[in-house]
Amino acid sequence: MNVLVIGGGGREHAMAWKLAQSDKVQMVYVAPGNGGTARDSRLKNIPITDVVALREWAQINKIGLTVVGPEGPLANGVVDEFRLHGLRIFGPTQAAAQLESSKAFSKDFMHRHGIPTAAYETFTDPVAAHAYVQRMGAPIVVKADGLAAGKGVVVAMTLEEAHAAVDFMLVDNGLAVVHNAGEGGHAAPRVVIEEFLEGEEASFMVLCDGKDVVALATSQDHKRLLDNDQGPNTGGMGAYSPAPVVTPQVHARAMREIILPTLKGMEQDGIPYTGFLYAGLMISPAGQVKTLEFNCRMGDPETQPILMRLKSDFLDVLWAGTEAGGLANMELDWDRRTALGVVMAAHGYPGTPRKGDAILGLPAPIDTAMVFHAGTEQQGGTTVTSGGRVLCITALAENARAARQLAYDAMAGIRFQGMQYRGDIGHRAMKPLPDNKASK
Ligand code: AMP
Ligand code: GLY
Repeated sequence: MNVLVIGGGGREHAMAWKLAQSDKVQMVYVAPGNGGTARDSRLKNIPITDVVALREWAQINKIGLTVVGPEGPLANGVVDEFRLHGLRIFGPTQAAAQLESSKAFSKDFMHRHGIPTAAYETFTDPVAAHAYVQRMGAPIVVKADGLAAGKGVVVAMTLEEAHAAVDFMLVDNGLAVVHNAGEGGHAAPRVVIEEFLEGEEASFMVLCDGKDVVALATSQDHKRLLDNDQGPNTGGMGAYSPAPVVTPQVHARAMREIILPTLKGMEQDGIPYTGFLYAGLMISPAGQVKTLEFNCRMGDPETQPILMRLKSDFLDVLWAGTEAGGLANMELDWDRRTALGVVMAAHGYPGTPRKGDAILGLPAPIDTAMVFHAGTEQQGGTTVTSGGRVLCITALAENARAARQLAYDAMAGIRFQGMQYRGDIGHRAMKPLPDNKASK
């Protein structure tokens, strides 16, 4: 079978790499792909991103299964378009993808269905928003409604920061986010202002077939640019799986209190959910679990370590996910070791990354240390930077400490002008967990 992976980041490189290991797969096409998928003979890049053009290409090339990496094509209705023409695709419909594409939609949804999340209110009027901030006090969190590539959230530790964020997002529309004009025609900028939650974050991802659900291995990422969680927020500077903070008790709570009610709620609302569902969890010291956000896709860079641990045939898993009830008896087989990925980012990231820096010293991939590409492209015989997050060096080893060592060893020879990376990926997985802290 020929399969198609939509996207061009590190997550999609990992998905394509994993799919290519299936006996049933003849060729994995990646649209548009990157410099890493271009280098792999089992993968082929297709320079198409438009949803209708992708569907036409998939029909002509007899693609048996398509999987969508990023949120953009989902929010643009790629799943609806493929299904309308009888093509098999794993992902949520445009309506279901609002769980990610609109913070207001997802907060209202959680409120309506009793899914634990931070208390919040939604505003279009800056005067009312400022008054709310003043009343609630700091710390407080201001979130732009609409997709903002991870830059639409300000965790304000002071009232001044919170007021500035309201002005930036509501008055200036400084993020120029594309606002959802769907429900009720809300085209004006909107913000969600919510309670500040304390605890440890984890990424909790599942696959849904519209009826049944199966959890992926747990993971955690590092959102800040610099060591010790300093500096600006990014899409993620590194990740590992499993996440020790997700104890069996936390796992059970996340399934019972968040994932299952979400799927049931979507069904009740007439928008059955299919595809990957990613709940960003905040786990309190007492082991209570609240939803920070939903994403309607796998995480990046969490996918890279998660898929390095997956022993099941990824094609079988995705195929099952495209049939209602297909995941009912699905058991995923995981490598019990830890996988850990370190992101190397371009000069200027997370602002405006510089492009065109030559990447030297890329090692040959081995089973336990993969170099997944993201913002790279081939220019002649050279791989150069072409985006913010450039590479994710992902290693698999006995425990988090050993995986970290292996990942940093594997990246030691790689260099490009202006490269940025963190030196402390995985530190939370290495400190011993206090006894019984996470169970209740
Ligand atoms: P989001 O895109 O909603 O996940 O927010 C991005 C990041 O902001 C999260 O990963 C958290 O680190 C932080 N954050 C978001 N909401 C809250 C909250 N209510 N309390 C504390 N931190 C938050
Ligand atoms: N790494 C966080 C995300 O993919 O949203």
